[in-house]
Amino acid sequence: MTLVTPIILDCDPGHDDAMAILLAAAHPSIELLGITTVSGNGALEKVSYNAQRVCALANIVVPIAKGAADPIAGKASAAPTIHGVSALDGAQLPEPTFELSELSAVELIAKLVTECDRKVTLIPTGPLTNIAMFLQAYPQLHDRIEHISFMGGSTERGNWTPYAEFNIWADPEAADIVLRSGLPLIMSGLNITHQALATPQVLARISALNTELAHTIVKLLNFFADTYRDVFAMPDPPVHDPVALAIIIDATVAKLVSAPVAVELTGTLTRGATVVDLYGNTGQQANVEVAMELDVEKFWDMMISAIETLGSR
Ligand code: RIB
Ligand code: CA
Repeated sequence: MTLVTPIILDCDPGHDDAMAILLAAAHPSIELLGITTVSGNGALEKVSYNAQRVCALANIVVPIAKGAADPIAGKASAAPTIHGVSALDGAQLPEPTFELSELSAVELIAKLVTECDRKVTLIPTGPLTNIAMFLQAYPQLHDRIEHISFMGGSTERGNWTPYAEFNIWADPEAADIVLRSGLPLIMSGLNITHQALATPQVLARISALNTELAHTIVKLLNFFADTYRDVFAMPDPPVHDPVALAIIIDATVAKLVSAPVAVELTGTLTRGATVVDLYGNTGQQANVEVAMELDVEKFWDMMISAIETLGSR
């Protein structure tokens, strides 16, 4: 019997967040309890509206709660050069079919975790502000968390600054709280998510599904491809966020190594950098399972199957 894993997706849609929403809603081994949104790729209002529109596009009905509009320290960021002004440019998306939750993101996470009869896995794919605030507000619920599998950081260079990846850079204090939490953490950094490329072959496989959903996703990913080509000179865009969930669905989709991971908070040039001690030089205790190698075929088979499932609903 397949064990179903209850998850909460905390995201900042964002093209790749949208793909993570689809995978979470479609995969038979995942029970998507709810979605929470955090300012990141766009302002909170925009990313929350985008989460609603992705759910409308794929006929997904789960509670969606707005979270933090700003990081713990500093001001909100955005990534219009990558995701566009709406934070999800590139295709015509339907209007929301249901209202946002009255609860805040932290309140919804606490409610869902409390009500669930199993431990819950948190899948953050944006800045970690909501997760950090939940951990600080509800220490009594820490033992109800199975894993925190997050997209963020890198064992190598950054993408938003030379040494910092966007999600961690956008709220390093939140990342520090999560990294020091002692909870079971899995990190999908740029070093692995840059292997999840939406190549022309991948886009052709999605197109061949020949559903309205598939065609809309191809338009979104083509926009994402254009911005990645313009900004990073990458021929194909890395679809970062679903990797963090794919690892929970099938642990064989990535190779994980235990390592100490810390975040730089005060570096003038390196603030937001994840410092991953892969060779044990620091003598620190390992606190994170770091995803290193992606089984690309297995990942895209999982992702495209999710699009097929939702497109036929
Ligand atoms: O650096 C990539 C991450 O930043 C992804 O989660 C993308 O959606 C943006 O949030
Ligand atoms: Ca994201």
